[in-house]
Amino acid sequence: MKITSAEFIISNSDVQKCPNEPLPEYAFIGRSNVGKSSLINMLTGQKKLAKTSSKPGKTQLINHFKINQNWFLVDLPGYGYAKVSKSTKAVFQKFITEYFEKREQLVCAFVLIDIRLEAQKIDLEFINYLGESGVPFCIIFTKADKIGKVKAQQNIAAYRKKVLANGWEEMPQHFVTSSLDNFGKDEVLTFIDDVNKQ
Ligand code: GTP
Ligand code: MG
Repeated sequence: MKITSAEFIISNSDVQKCPNEPLPEYAFIGRSNVGKSSLINMLTGQKKLAKTSSKPGKTQLINHFKINQNWFLVDLPGYGYAKVSKSTKAVFQKFITEYFEKREQLVCAFVLIDIRLEAQKIDLEFINYLGESGVPFCIIFTKADKIGKVKAQQNIAAYRKKVLANGWEEMPQHFVTSSLDNFGKDEVLTFIDDVNKQ
C-alpha cells in the first residue's frame, strides 16, 4: 500500500474528543523514546509529521493523523518515563488506558519494543493488559539498525521465551523496523492494508 496523504488532525487527552468518524485506526504505544513518533514519520514518509526528540517524554497527548483520507494512525505518549515519580511510574496514564478501553475505532495497537533490550517488565505488563482488555495488538521491534541481523534474531527468540513464560500461548505477530533506513515499512503497511480490507 502507498500512503498518498497524511495529515495531522487533533491532539487531546480526552478520548471523547478524538475524531468521531467511524474510520479504522492503529495506535502506537510503548516506552518513552522507543521510537513511536519516528515510526509514524517513517511509515508516512513525512519527516516532521509527528514530533520526535532524543529526550524521552516528547509526545504527551493522543495525536490523530488521517491517512489516505480513510484511516488513522495514532501517536500516543510513552509509558515508563523515569522522570515520573516512582509511585506513578508503573501506572499507565489514565487517558491512555481509557483510550484502549473505550476507543471503538481502534482495530489494532502496535506495541513498540527496542530490539536491543531484554524484555522489560513494564512492556510485558502492558501486553498482558491489552490481552486482558481484548485489544488486538502486534509487536514492533524498533531501532533494528542499531544491532546486527543475527543478534536481532537472538533477541527476538529470547523475547518470545519471556512472552510465553508470561502466560501467552504463542508469540504475537511481530515486525522488525528501523525508522532510520525504512526497514520493515512495507511489511507494516501491508499488514494495515490487509486489516483495512477485512
Ligand atoms: P516519546 O514521545 O517520548 O514517548 O518517544 P517516542 O517513542 O515517540 O520516540 P521518538 O520517535 O521521539 O524517538 C526517540 C529517539 O529515538 C529519537 O532520537 C529518534 O531519532 C530515535 N529513533 C527512533 N527510531 C529510531 C530507529 O529506528 N533507529 C535509530 N537509530 N534511532 C531511532
Ligand atoms: Mg513520541
